[in-house]
Amino acid sequence: MMPYTLAFDVYGTLINTSGVHYSLQKIIGEKAQPFMDTWRGKQLEYSFRRALMNLYADFSVCTRQALEYCCAYFQTDLTPEQKDALMAEYSVLPAFTEAEEALISLKKAGHKLFAFSNGSQEAVTTLLSNAQILAYFEGVVSMEDVKTFKPNPAGYAHFNAKTHSQKSTTWLISGNPFDAIGAKAYGMKTAWVQRSPDVIFDPWGMEADIVIGNLTELLDKLLLQNN
Ligand code: LAC
Repeated sequence: MMPYTLAFDVYGTLINTSGVHYSLQKIIGEKAQPFMDTWRGKQLEYSFRRALMNLYADFSVCTRQALEYCCAYFQTDLTPEQKDALMAEYSVLPAFTEAEEALISLKKAGHKLFAFSNGSQEAVTTLLSNAQILAYFEGVVSMEDVKTFKPNPAGYAHFNAKTHSQKSTTWLISGNPFDAIGAKAYGMKTAWVQRSPDVIFDPWGMEADIVIGNLTELLDKLLLQNN
C-alpha cells in the first residue's frame, strides 16, 4: 500500500475533551454537560472569529475566554482557583481508548503520522506526552506557526510545507466536521471520525472521503482507497 502522510487533529479526535466533565460535575452538578458543550462551542467560535479578524491569540486564550463566557452564561460563580484547575485539566486529558492501538498499526503499515492542531506546539506536545501517545508521531504541527486557526487554508498549506508532503497524498483525520471540510476544500483527502450518530456532518456538499466510527477502522479503510 502507498504510504500516506496522516495529519491527526488533536482535540476531539485523538484526545477526549469530555475528560473535564467529571471535574465540572463535582462543582456544578447537572449543568456540567450543557456547560461543557457550550464551552467547547464557544472555544471554536472564538478561534474562527479571531482567524477572520486577524486577531490571533494562543488557542488557550480562546479556551479561557470561552470558560469565562460560560461562567457568566450559566451563572456559576467559579473561584479563580477552580477556573485555573479546569484550565490545567486541558493539558492532562486522556487519549480516546482505541487511539494508541490504532496509531501503532498505522505506523507499522508505513504511514507517516503527525499531530496537527490549533493548540500551541508546547500545549499539544505536553498533552500528547501526558496521554502517552507522543512517541507515535514524527512531529507536531501547530497553527501557532501561521498565527491563524483552522479551517483557514493557509494552515493546511503550512502543514504540507512543514512536513514536506503533498496534499494529494495527505489525509486529514478529524472528529470535527469543520476541520474535515476545511481540509477537503484545500485539497487534502479527509477521514471524518463520527464518534456518535448524533454528530451531524455539515451539509455543504463536500463529503469526507472516509467515515469511521473510531480510529481502529482507519487502516482498513485506507487500504481500500489504494485498490
Ligand atoms: C484542534 C481542534 C480543532 O486540535 O480540535 O485543532
